[in-house]
Amino acid sequence: MTITQDDAATSSGGSPVEGPSDGATAFDQLIDKVRAEFDTQFTWDYERGRDGLNRLYEKAKRSQWNVSDDLDWSIDVDPERMVRLQAETTGIPAGFPARSLLDVKGSPVASWNDDQWVDFAVNSQCASLSQFLHGEQGALLCTARLVESVPWIEAKYYGSTQVVDEARHVEAFARYLDEKMPTTYPINENLKSLLDSVLSDERWDLVYLGMQVVIEGLALAAFGMMLGTTQEPLLKNLLRYVMSDEARHVAFGILSLQEIYADLSADDFRLRQEFAFEACNQMRRRTLNAELWPSYGISNEEIEALLPDQNSQQKFQQLLFSKIVPNCKKLGLLDHRDGWLRERFQEMNIIQFEDWENTAEALDLDGPVADRELDDAANRASFDPDALQGVEVIDTPTH
Ligand SMILES: [Fe+2]
Ligand SMILES: [Fe+2]
Repeated sequence: MTITQDDAATSSGGSPVEGPSDGATAFDQLIDKVRAEFDTQFTWDYERGRDGLNRLYEKAKRSQWNVSDDLDWSIDVDPERMVRLQAETTGIPAGFPARSLLDVKGSPVASWNDDQWVDFAVNSQCASLSQFLHGEQGALLCTARLVESVPWIEAKYYGSTQVVDEARHVEAFARYLDEKMPTTYPINENLKSLLDSVLSDERWDLVYLGMQVVIEGLALAAFGMMLGTTQEPLLKNLLRYVMSDEARHVAFGILSLQEIYADLSADDFRLRQEFAFEACNQMRRRTLNAELWPSYGISNEEIEALLPDQNSQQKFQQLLFSKIVPNCKKLGLLDHRDGWLRERFQEMNIIQFEDWENTAEALDLDGPVADRELDDAANRASFDPDALQGVEVIDTPTH
C-alpha cells in the first residue's frame, strides 16, 4: 500500500488513486520531510524517583501484544455487509452523520438512495481508518522525539515502550486497510499541519501537549465511537487492543506535564493555553469526511455551508473533544489567567466535557491491565474487556 499526498487531488469516482504516477520519482513522492532543530538530551541521573512514570513503564512492559499473533487475520471482512449489519444492529443509518444532510434544503446529496449511502459509508470507514493510520505514524515520530529530548530517565524508559506501541498501531491499521478494506486515503491536511507544527517545535513539552493530550485524546474518543458501532469482530478486537495502549499514552502526557507545569512562569503557561486552543481549533476545522466529498463530485465548501444547521454533525464533532477537555482541566490549563481557555472552549461548545472521566484517573496504574502471557493460547485472537481499564466505548449521538 502506498499513498502520496497528490492522491487527494487526483482521486475521483469514490476512490483515491494508489501509488505514485512517475516511476522515476516514486521514492521522493512517498517521503515527506519536516525540518526540526532541537536538543537531544543525555541524562546521567539514572535514579528513578518518578513513581507514576515508573508504574506506567512497568504496566507497559507487561502489556505488549503482537499484531501478527493476537488478532485473527483469517476473519473475512465484507465492507458492504459490515456497513449494512452495523446499521441494522445499531439503528444508526448507513452514512450517518453525513446522511443527516439529506434533510437540508438544497443539499447536494438530497437524491442519494440507500445503496449510495452504503457506498459512502464504506468509503467513510476507509477514510476514518486512514486518518487513524496516519495519526499513528505521527504518534510514532513524536514519541521517538520525546525519547531523545526529554531529560528524565523515567520518561525515556516509558517513551521507548510507546514507540513500540505506536509502531504496532501503524502496523495494525495498515494491515487492516491493506487486506480488508477497498482503499486508503491520504492524511487530512489539518492533521498533517498540526503534526508538522508539533514536530518542528524545539520545546519538548509542546510535543507532549500536542500529541499526548490533544491528538491522542482525540484518537481515544474516535476509537471509542468506532468501537461502539462496528460489528466487525476483527476491527473490534483491533480497536480494543489499540485503546488499551492509548489510555496509557494519554496518562504519560498528563503525568509528565503536571510536573513541568508546576514550575512554569505565568507567561509560559499562557503560551501553553494558546497552543492547546490552536491545536483543538485545527482539529475542529477538519470537516467530517473532508477526504471523501471531492471524490463524490461535492466540494467541502458546499458541505461546510450546510453544517451550521446540522445538530447531529456538530454533536458528533464535539464528542471528539470529550477526552481532551477534562485532561486540560486536570493540567490547570482551563482556568489559568481568568479562565482564558475555558472561554475558548465555551465558544467551541466543548466545555460541557470538563468533568467527564479523566484519562489519567481512569487508568488504574496498579490494576491488572493486560497482565497476559503472550504465549497463552486462550488469549490469542480474543480480548477480555474486563481486563481493560481507562477505555471507554462512546455512544454516537443520533439526533
Ligand atoms: Fe497509537
Ligand atoms: Fe498513542
